[in-house]
Amino acid sequence: MKKLLTVLVALLMVFTLAACGNGGEGGEQSGAKTYKVGVAIYEFNDNFMTLYRNELENYFKSLETDDVKYEVTIVDGKTDMSEQSNQVDNFITQGMDVIILNLVQTSSAEALIDKIVAANIPLVLINREPLAYDADGNILDEAYEGILNNDYVCYVGADARQSGTYQGEIVAELENHGDINGDGVINYVMIEGDPENIDAQYRTEFSIKALEDAGYTVNCLVDQVGNWQQAKGEEICASALSQYGNDVEVVFCNNDAMALGAAAAITAAGRTVGEDIYLLGVDALEECQQMVQNGEMTGTVLNDHIGQSHTAVDVAVKCLNGEAIDNYYWVNYVKVTK
Ligand code: GAL
Repeated sequence: MKKLLTVLVALLMVFTLAACGNGGEGGEQSGAKTYKVGVAIYEFNDNFMTLYRNELENYFKSLETDDVKYEVTIVDGKTDMSEQSNQVDNFITQGMDVIILNLVQTSSAEALIDKIVAANIPLVLINREPLAYDADGNILDEAYEGILNNDYVCYVGADARQSGTYQGEIVAELENHGDINGDGVINYVMIEGDPENIDAQYRTEFSIKALEDAGYTVNCLVDQVGNWQQAKGEEICASALSQYGNDVEVVFCNNDAMALGAAAAITAAGRTVGEDIYLLGVDALEECQQMVQNGEMTGTVLNDHIGQSHTAVDVAVKCLNGEAIDNYYWVNYVKVTK
């Protein structure tokens, strides 16, 4: 009888302890510690960032143990900077233990970094790198002060110059170097992502620079902004093809979503990639890797969302554990051709 009573009391204590556990800021739940992670994405309706955010979530889940849980809240900035700023305010009020931020506008980086740092919350910036500018608005090739000056602020990303260079190199490595009609000039169309985004600026600049550095002459027929969107890519490419017809030899798209649109326009215009036109993208979406293998795209560049999301999570976890972090973490792009 005495033994039975002891067991009952012990069981009661276990249940009481479990019931008292609460979630919340580094909270204890059933003996486990629960960290609150706030993730703000610039736009859910973006192919690449969708892969990225899903992998962020999956990877946090995979790191959970009996002792450590991650309560991940992901919000959609809907390409609206004031919406995202409010979302960050909410994260601060909710007492997030770490914030992962994909800025809508890098020009607003300072304001957001300042309030997150003031709230003492570690910050991992992803995908859209804030840059330093001189007084005339030219990009300075140096680290961003808001990142450099704060121990718990860092940026995880890929150097967009590399992806642009790879696009240009893929064309340079073709037998005719993109000069289909053999007149000594590569006539191209450039379809750009969001111009405020350094990925768009660098890919536009460095794809062409790679061709020029290799000694080829280029001529830009059309250079327009498609804001990373498939429908825009199709529209811009269709109008370029109807205006310039067979003169268009190479179509550079700053990302694969726009290249998918351009591919549709190319088919609709009765043109054939690899025969009378070349098409380049960046991201290496699964669909586009397939198209490269089938010859429907000339090439793309892997924007490694797995490497980037895992690095971002690993760094966030370091912050949660109070370990020191670096200011910058870089993940390489990879050329994708047949
Ligand atoms: C780029 C990516 C684009 C788009 C953009 C959003 O790195 O190539 O497809 O997702 O980020 O900032």
